[in-house]
Amino acid sequence: MTAEKYHHTYFLLTLFIGITWMFFQGASAVAQGDYCQESPWKGKKVFKEKGCIQCHAVYGRGGDIGPDLGKKKFYGTYMQLASLMWNHLPRMFTVMENRKRPFPKLTEKDMNKLLAYLAFIRYVGEPGNEHRGVKLLRSKRCIVCHQFGGEGGTIGPDLSKRKEYLSSLSMVRAMWNHGPQMQKIFRKQGIEPPEFSGTEIVDLTVAVRSYMSPSRVPSRAFNLGEPSKGRELLESKGCTRCHAVAGKGGTVGPDFTTVDFNYSVTQIAGKMWNHLPRMWEMMSSEKMAFPEFTEEEMADVISYLYALKLNDPPGDSKAGKKIVEQRNCLSCHSLRGTGSKDAPDLAKIGPLRNPVSLITKMWNHAPVMKKQLEKKSLRWPWLSGKEMTNVYAYLQSVAKKK
Ligand code: HEC
Ligand code: HEC
Ligand code: HEC
Ligand code: HEC
Repeated sequence: MTAEKYHHTYFLLTLFIGITWMFFQGASAVAQGDYCQESPWKGKKVFKEKGCIQCHAVYGRGGDIGPDLGKKKFYGTYMQLASLMWNHLPRMFTVMENRKRPFPKLTEKDMNKLLAYLAFIRYVGEPGNEHRGVKLLRSKRCIVCHQFGGEGGTIGPDLSKRKEYLSSLSMVRAMWNHGPQMQKIFRKQGIEPPEFSGTEIVDLTVAVRSYMSPSRVPSRAFNLGEPSKGRELLESKGCTRCHAVAGKGGTVGPDFTTVDFNYSVTQIAGKMWNHLPRMWEMMSSEKMAFPEFTEEEMADVISYLYALKLNDPPGDSKAGKKIVEQRNCLSCHSLRGTGSKDAPDLAKIGPLRNPVSLITKMWNHAPVMKKQLEKKSLRWPWLSGKEMTNVYAYLQSVAKKK
């Protein structure tokens, strides 16, 4: 088995155990206080049972009729994911009809699980590439200070002698904790501190690991973090002295709710690393202690930052009204008596607990909707995630009016 393949297999194992772990933690890694409380691990099962996997691979495993849902970057919230699913229905129908596959109906629970699963594919991240990593050891100048396969500098420790298993999170954590030390040397030697983007950290980790003797993989390597603990850690580590969350906290650094954290766990760790030099400088001038992390703490903080972006802001019911009027919904549906009678009255569609209830209902009715759309020569009503929350807000307000 090549190292890359090994890593890939290992990665899938990680995904499996990691998500199982989250499952036993009561799925607390799913954003707190939100409507999508289901375990991503259960979502993986739905993904299989409903036949999604026959057309979609996740990081190379599965069918190739639809896009690989691991490779594609998902931008944003649960509802933006729901919107991708909704907007792809017409194409999916065509493929299913051609292949004589039944349409997968979903319960609201199924939909919740699927959305949680899809949201966390992104978080776990993609497998590393040893070949790219070995190149990075040079271009990021790790080799100036560290030895790899008998080559390189001796200013830093020989990483191949490390006894414990090196996950990409444990590598960033180690670098983070040694950060101030490393910064001093960087400065003395006139070396620009390395910055990381994309899969670079994962690639580097696979490369560094290839120089280590294989070690047992500890269970904490699968720790994907608990967001609820992450919130407290932001306080205790002093992050909130400079950063706010939704307006509460310091104003020196960006408010975390305004930062794009739609990245994998290691990419977010990379962002933290990239800002270490400036942060450390500011902290030293204010005589603050540098915040070191255990691996678990780092995982908790990062999962918290990641989960910040999964929930949708509340919809705008006025904007939702416009969508319902302008996207032809009323050429089939009635609404409190006005509009067409070909489809149920949108004021009476039953309880809408949250936007997921709405999209589930729409999903299950889609085959019938599609037939009617064709008869009336109307186009599929594409909806963005934001438009969905707006439509939800509107229909909910209409249902409430007596
Ligand atoms: C019969 C094959 C088929 C099945 C089954 C299927 N899909 Fe798809 N899916 C596709 C195709 C083809 C596309 C690309 C569609 C397009 O271009 O609109 C797609 C696109 C998507 C997208 C958008 C991806 C992107 O990057 O834009 C998502 C999300 C998605 N599918 C999720 C699902 C889920 C969840 C299920 C199971 C409930 C599922 N699909 C079942 C064929 C399928
Ligand atoms: C300018 C020299 C220098 C460069 C360049 C450098 N390091 Fe280091 N590194 C060090 C030193 C010195 C330490 C030990 C710091 C300490 O003891 O606090 C260290 C520590 C580490 C550790 C922690 C080791 C452990 O066992 O805890 C890791 C992991 C690491 N470096 C990875 C890297 C990677 C990956 C790169 C390239 C992106 C890199 N380093 C670039 C000097 C450097
Ligand atoms: C002394 C003030 C200060 C402290 C303490 C601080 N930060 Fe920052 N942070 C900043 C500033 C300023 C920036 C803006 C980017 C830069 O200049 O590096 C930033 C940027 C960031 C970014 C990158 C945001 C982006 O846009 O990519 C992350 C992630 C981050 N901080 C996380 C943390 C975490 C986690 C902690 C606690 C361990 C923390 N910060 C503590 C000042 C601070
Ligand atoms: C071409 C006709 C047509 C258009 C346009 C249309 N629908 Fe529908 N819709 C239907 C039909 C028919 C049903 C019921 C299908 C069934 O019984 O399976 C339905 C069902 C629904 C349901 C589920 C109702 C229930 O009782 O569970 C919702 C919610 C819904 N549509 C929302 C919308 C929204 C929002 C729009 C505009 C963006 C829209 N529809 C546009 C024909 C349409």
